[in-house]
This record gives sequence, structure tokens and C-alpha cells, in this order.
Amino acid sequence: MTKTVLVSGGAGFIGSHVTVELTQAGYDVVIADNFSNCDETNYRGVCKILGKELPLVKMDFCDAAATDALFEKYHIDAVIHFAAFKAVGESVAEPLKYYQNNLGSFLNILEQARKRGCNVLFSSSATVYGEPEKSPVTEQTPRQPSTSPYGNTKQMCEDFLRDCVKAYPNVKGIALRYFNPIGAHPSALIGELPRGVPNNLVPFITQTAIGKRPVLRVFGNDYPTPDGTCLRDFIDIVDLAKAHVYAVRRMLDGKMEQGYEIFNVGTGRPLSVLELITAFEKVNGVKLNWEYTARREGDVIAIWADPALANKKLGWKATRTTEETLKAAWAWELHLKELGL
Ligand code: UD1
Repeated sequence: MTKTVLVSGGAGFIGSHVTVELTQAGYDVVIADNFSNCDETNYRGVCKILGKELPLVKMDFCDAAATDALFEKYHIDAVIHFAAFKAVGESVAEPLKYYQNNLGSFLNILEQARKRGCNVLFSSSATVYGEPEKSPVTEQTPRQPSTSPYGNTKQMCEDFLRDCVKAYPNVKGIALRYFNPIGAHPSALIGELPRGVPNNLVPFITQTAIGKRPVLRVFGNDYPTPDGTCLRDFIDIVDLAKAHVYAVRRMLDGKMEQGYEIFNVGTGRPLSVLELITAFEKVNGVKLNWEYTARREGDVIAIWADPALANKKLGWKATRTTEETLKAAWAWELHLKELGL
């Protein structure tokens, strides 16, 4: 029988790509989103790519009764939880907003998992490693005390899941720690659509290239790295989405070796901010207006993944090249222009 996966936050950047990959892999997907940080552009794109309408539930997972009703209506075999706020700076200014939303929604989901028996995949982040002593980081690299409430919620949700798995035998869990997801679907029908001024590098690059922003500011060129800019593990969004299919399959096929497992989702290749900008200009034939400015507070100098565990245990590997990814990011921005967004 076809298994059903609930994708909370399924209308967002990562959720929409995961929905496409899961559906194409043969799973039934139910999308739930409160549209607090996105519109229906990605949902419509998902339906267009798949050539069918997917069930869409407009709801907030902080609402315990609505969450219960959703799990009552659908038989959920696994839930992937994306529905959360994600702006690091905002989380420092408004910690309660982040704690209430990001923790409250996940607790309601875990309560349903406990009540009904369900597999839970949590979208964690490399932010849990803080500034690591050395890269690449493995899943055994110690987590660092978080420097933001956003990062704190990622660590706490990992711990909630670990503890629930330990206590409730009918709950299994995987946390995927994402490095820097970038790019867009090759169809250019879904992608990243930040509200207001983007915090993240690639949407800022594409918005500058298209003329929405006058100048891209590179935060710091005096870091102890080869070219002075920060080093990151930029992972293609479709590659990242596919990792979820492997993780869900591992859970649903009873292949997990422990009730709670953690995997890094990255390429294993560091790229500097400057290298990424230069690659974007080259592959897309556009000239970016950019300049150096002061370091951004809280930025990690250098971090990249050791993805060996995910490669081995999930059978997953990042395959898309930086060039393909940056072409897709640009095609998406051009698509948004056509849509008038
Ligand atoms: C950030 C968060 C991370 C979160 C992720 C979500 C921090 C410390 N980390 O990662 O917890 O999971 O976003 O996607 O905030 N840059 C510029 N100019 C810009 C924007 C970015 O130079 O306009 C640089 C940054 O200084 C950084 C790199 O680009 O070196 C990547 O930045 P960003 O895309 O914001 O991701 P992270 O900071 O790595």
C-alpha cells in the first residue's frame, strides 16, 4: 500500500522540493502550511511539475487541536517537519516568537507521533556545530552552545526527538543536518522566495543580478581562509530534497539501525563566498555589482560536511554541480520576474 508522508511547511523552499521528490518516488504527500512566510507560488509550481493537485491543508502546527484533526483525517506513516521560522537575526530580537513557534509546533507533532505511532524526520541544521574546531564535520563532532535562539530551537528539537524515541517505542526519528541549501528545481517552477530583504547569500545574489537590489555586500574579506571570505558547503536543493526520500525509505522500510539517527546533508566540498559569486557570474554570463563590507556578527568562518555516513547508510550522494545549481537559481529568478514577483 502506498505510504503517506505529511510535509509540514510543505509550501516553503525546502518543503516544496521534498514534496516533488517524494511524490516522484511513489509516496502520497499531504502538504500542510500556515503561509506565514510564503505564498502559494511554490505550491502551484509543485502541482505543475507533478501534473496533479496535491492535498493542501492550511493550518498552524502550534494549534494542537488542528494538528490532532489532521492526523485523524489522514493516516500518516511519516512526517517531515519544516514548519518553522528561520531568520537568525530576527530570532535574537524576538526569541519568544521563535521558541513558541518552532518548539510549540514540533511538540504538537511529537504528541501525535506518540499517540498514533509515526516516523518523524526533523529538519536540523549545521548551525548546531557552531564554529567547529575543524572541518569537515562528522555527526560525532560535538555540538556547540548556540549563539541564537534560532540555533537553540534546532538543538532543542533534535533533543526532543531523541528523548521521544527513547521513551516511546512506536516513534522513530531521523534528524538531517543541512549545510547551505541553494538553487532551485531545474523546471524553474519552484525555488526560494524570501519575503523582504534576503538574509541568505544566493537569493541576495540573484536579486542583485536582476536589479531588485542595487549592490551585494560581501561580509568580510579578512577571514583566515584562502581568499579571506567565509567557506561553506553549498548543497543543491534537489540533491538535498532527495536525501529526504532516502531517509523516509530507511524509516518506512524498517532499515534503521537505531531508533534515532542523525545525518549530515552536504557535498563535502567547501566553497568560498567569493568563489560562489565568481561562479555565478561565469555560468550565467551576468555581471554582479558587489563590494566588500564589514564582517556580519555571528557568522561562522568555515564549515563543511563530512557526508560519508549519509553516503553509506542512506545510499545518498550529492550529484549536481555548482554550475548546474547556480544556473537553476538564476532561471528561477527570471521565472519570478515573468510572474511579476
Ligand atoms: C545561515 C544561518 C544558519 C541557517 C542558514 C539557513 C548564521 C550564522 N547561520 O547560514 O543557521 O541554517 O542561514 O539558510 O546566520 N553573505 C554575504 N552577503 C550576504 C549574505 C551572506 O557575504 O548578503 C555571506 C555570509 O557572511 C556567509 C555566507 O555568505 O559567509 C553564507 O551566508 P548565508 O546564506 O546567510 O548562510 P549561513 O550564514 O551560512
